[in-house]
Amino acid sequence: MTETHYLSDWQPYPFNVLETRLEFDLAPKGTKVKSEIRFHRNSPGDLVLDGAGLRTKALRIDGREIAPTDLRQTESSLTIAQSALPEGDFTFSAEVEIDPEANTALEGLYLSGGIFCTQCEAEGFRHITWYPDRPDVMAPFHVVLRSDKPVLLSNGNPVASEKGRAEWHDPWPKPAYLFALVAGDLVAIDDHFTTRSGKPVDLHVWVRPGDQDRADFAMESLKKSMIWDEEVYGREYDLDVFNIVAVDDFNMGAMENKGLNIFNSKLVLSSPATATDLDYERIEGVIAHEYFHNWTGNRITCRDWFQLCLKEGLTVFRDQSFTSDMRSAAVKRISDVQTLRARQFREDQGPLAHPPRPDHFQEINNFYTATVYEKGAEIIGMLKRLVGDENYRKALDLYFERHDGQACTIEDWLAVFHDATGRDLTQFKHWYTDAGTPQLTMIEDWQDGHLRLTFRQETPATPGQSHKPPRVIPIAIGLISPNGDEVLPTTVLEMTEAEQSFVFRDLGARPVVSLLRGFSAPVIIRREISADDQALLLAHDTDAFTRWEAGHDLALAALMALATGGEASAGYSDAIGALLAHAETDPAFTALCLALPGDDAIATALAARGITPDPDAIHAAREGFARDLASRHEAALSRIYATMAPVGAYRPDAEGAARRSLRLACLALLSRLDEGDRALVLFGSAENMTERLGALGQLIAVGRDQESLALFRQEFAANRLVMDKWFMVQPHRASPETAVARAKALAARDDFDWKNPNRFRALLGGFSANHAAFHQADGSGYDFYADWLIKLDPVNPQTAARMCSAFETWPRYEAGRREKARAALQRIAAREGLSRNTSEMVTRILAAGS
Ligand code: TRP
Ligand code: ZN
Repeated sequence: MTETHYLSDWQPYPFNVLETRLEFDLAPKGTKVKSEIRFHRNSPGDLVLDGAGLRTKALRIDGREIAPTDLRQTESSLTIAQSALPEGDFTFSAEVEIDPEANTALEGLYLSGGIFCTQCEAEGFRHITWYPDRPDVMAPFHVVLRSDKPVLLSNGNPVASEKGRAEWHDPWPKPAYLFALVAGDLVAIDDHFTTRSGKPVDLHVWVRPGDQDRADFAMESLKKSMIWDEEVYGREYDLDVFNIVAVDDFNMGAMENKGLNIFNSKLVLSSPATATDLDYERIEGVIAHEYFHNWTGNRITCRDWFQLCLKEGLTVFRDQSFTSDMRSAAVKRISDVQTLRARQFREDQGPLAHPPRPDHFQEINNFYTATVYEKGAEIIGMLKRLVGDENYRKALDLYFERHDGQACTIEDWLAVFHDATGRDLTQFKHWYTDAGTPQLTMIEDWQDGHLRLTFRQETPATPGQSHKPPRVIPIAIGLISPNGDEVLPTTVLEMTEAEQSFVFRDLGARPVVSLLRGFSAPVIIRREISADDQALLLAHDTDAFTRWEAGHDLALAALMALATGGEASAGYSDAIGALLAHAETDPAFTALCLALPGDDAIATALAARGITPDPDAIHAAREGFARDLASRHEAALSRIYATMAPVGAYRPDAEGAARRSLRLACLALLSRLDEGDRALVLFGSAENMTERLGALGQLIAVGRDQESLALFRQEFAANRLVMDKWFMVQPHRASPETAVARAKALAARDDFDWKNPNRFRALLGGFSANHAAFHQADGSGYDFYADWLIKLDPVNPQTAARMCSAFETWPRYEAGRREKARAALQRIAAREGLSRNTSEMVTRILAAGS
């Protein structure tokens, strides 16, 4: 049985670490690690260290070998009794040997394409040496690296460097999860930054030889991030160098190791021919995210892993604000809401629902979730809305001043807001501790020129939490008169009760409520609204989010009706007609309005209303609806497709991306009529990856892809990142009936390098994103997917476990699919030697159906 960890069990570590000294002799099969850890006692207790998979050669206290009788060792810990320890400060030292080449889990020290690199968050450092591997034990690190690799990097500032040896010192106390080293044959692009107080910083982006012409955009993004954090949060960089390294094998996106960020190469490398607009935007956003962690995560870190959203929610909020400043705030907000709903609402409605600050877990790696990251960011946004911009900045200044160098909790965070603003946040805290998405119902009552809005909130039960007290919900609204004028500008209503009314007096005519402007709280809205009123909002609302939402709701209502045997109203199609007439004034917004909700979103919306979703019916409804829409607006769509053709050279900025997104949105609809004629032309003529991949997706969807796929492969066979797209787009866009066979054929290819997480995620993630394919009624999608999770688990448990979430919606389907999904999950669960990671995931997912 695996152990469950509880928040309530947290105890302070009895020691401080005054300094950590490490020496590495790097070799693929046998890397020697010598450590010297200087301890200072704070309170009574034994010395307990974490370690896993270490070949221990020596253990000493103050230079003397520790007697075996003074040691207790388990599979994952080492305990030295207090009685065997000196009274004052002492040095624990160890010599261990580890095997980076055998490390396929990509946790701890491993090799990626011949480059030694590390990933220590959350608990990877224990795979490197014996250590108090918990985030509240912080120390300055001094590191010596010996290796025949030409480039040797670690955290902090370089102290000395000669052939085969480098020495690094990181003066800022940090927990072990922020430790990193890199040793490899790398080249850098170099730049400089001077902080606003005049401190010079050397900047390097390290990549494999040959990739250096694709690293400039990452460097530009870094400099923009550094300026932004100074201007908006008053935060300066604090070391002499900042290094970014790109590696091909990485479990997640990137990692904020102090002064040495390590990135999945897909979030560093870009060129117009190989990266899409979305790739560029993500690179900019993730470079910013990791850089921003230097203050929110590193200088101030988490007391324990239950507090993960303290650093992640805040840092996501910061990177989202950065992107909206760099690009279009409206587009950014709408796409963030789309992601939140697609991932976090889905999570919150299923068996994996958990609070942004969980109170128990088995495997912390399973809690790097949409709830911790994206909902964590929404919570910060609400807090900012409630206290106002000025107070928010005051609170953050206090946070940095009060907690610099500390390991903190959500309570510390809220106390700062309380102390800076005087606001009582007791009720607000429920956003952190309670799982589930509140459902907010609005009822309108119009009488004698007065509008009474009554809101009711209710949060459904989630695993382990049956009762949810009312939360404070900032509801931003505006009122639009029937002639389209705004009669009430954005006003934030603060709801604190289960049911609450707000009255707006002396209005001339009955206005339409623009509800939840800017998506002011992560809730599900229930309201009665006519298609005419939605159209009015789509045409006249002053808030971009609620404008978009009006169109989105019309589309969703039509699709839900069609998917359940009903008829679609003409509301959405009419509204789109009006929008297309002046599409060029805001191409990005028009593109967002043209993108129909996906199959999974339709299924989620149906399930939330208690209707069992039928994946085939949903798919057919969406296809039919898209075709009708295309025929009805064919002329306008073709015109816009032509006028949105590229002007001038490709630039990855918001304006260019907006035009391309509108063009591709038109193409998606038109391809339903021309069977891919335009897509074929575009694929052959486009010079940028955005348009080529967009065209290729349409060709696959209409089944005219063989030649283009072969050309694409020939051209990009040597580029791993582009080939990942090739592996992703096929199972994703193939018709549901052919997708399983197709995915199987792809998986059988020699170049399906499944131990590489990007490649594995491309094929399997592309497949599971094809809703009707994954949920094939005969269970073949589930079986195929489960087979691969079973194969990946012993090699890379972290990635296998994360990808189990494809199954998280299984209880909402009909009995036939449910039984097949259950059988597939049980087959995974029954595997001998299944990892703790995957075992926790399938157990939680299966629990929902019992
Ligand atoms: N802290 C990283 C981030 O948010 C996340 C991360 C990178 C991570 N690699 C990981 C988390 C491995 C768990 C395991 O930017
Ligand atoms: Zn992060």
